[in-house]
Amino acid sequence: MSKNILLFRLFAFLNCVFQIFGQISYDLPAGWAPDGNAQYDIGVDYATFYEKAPSGFIKSPSNINSLNPNPFGILAQTFIPKEYLGKQVRLTCFIKYSNVSSSMGLLLHVHSVNGGFDNTANKNSIINGSGDWAKFVSVVNVPEDTSLIGFGAILNDEGVVWLDKCNFEIVEPPDESVSFPFPKSEPNVVNNDFHNFLTYPISLDF
Ligand SMILES: *[C@@H]1O[C@H](CO)[C@@H](O)[C@H](O)[C@H]1NC(C)=O
Ligand SMILES: *[C@@H]1O[C@H](CO)[C@@H](O)[C@H](O)[C@H]1NC(C)=O
Repeated sequence: MSKNILLFRLFAFLNCVFQIFGQISYDLPAGWAPDGNAQYDIGVDYATFYEKAPSGFIKSPSNINSLNPNPFGILAQTFIPKEYLGKQVRLTCFIKYSNVSSSMGLLLHVHSVNGGFDNTANKNSIINGSGDWAKFVSVVNVPEDTSLIGFGAILNDEGVVWLDKCNFEIVEPPDESVSFPFPKSEPNVVNNDFHNFLTYPISLDF
């Protein structure tokens, strides 16, 4: 056997080992955290990603419906939007999804008196089934009293969702047709101790 074939076989073998043992990790990069109402597999994936490895993923375990009748899993991060107060902000992320039984989408949560959720999983048309990497966009106004912004991806029920290459930018001039968040009668302010939060989003491409 030539040296090249040996090297190729070694490479193929190592690649295989990597695929089996090194493809995913449950160590999320700084900023990102799992959330939801059921035990989803949430971590980073080195085999499926947009442009650069890894991506973040949410995957339903096979017994998800026995744990909760309406389960959902979230991969999100929260920050103090110091630079964005009083501004209109556009969040873009790339998302790929597979075998989604119910719905999935981009999640954006503005914590302010007039705050609320902008959840593309509940908006427009329901996104389910499977889809390759595509850009998801959410535009919100960030009121001056906003204490925190939370953002990420949500998976309702079964399936796999991958999230990658998120970006925040100020929309200038603002799009006047954006009415989110709309005033609410129930204030949406959480009086947490905010010293653990950063004043900017991080690890946006995992
Ligand atoms: C999606 O479902 C198909 C058919 O059951 C299966 O072959 C495939 O592996 C699933 N994809 C993922 C990412 O789980
Ligand atoms: C997507 O959701 C619709 C409406 O709930 C449903 O009829 C359809 O079967 C779903 N498709 C897939 C691929 O799960």
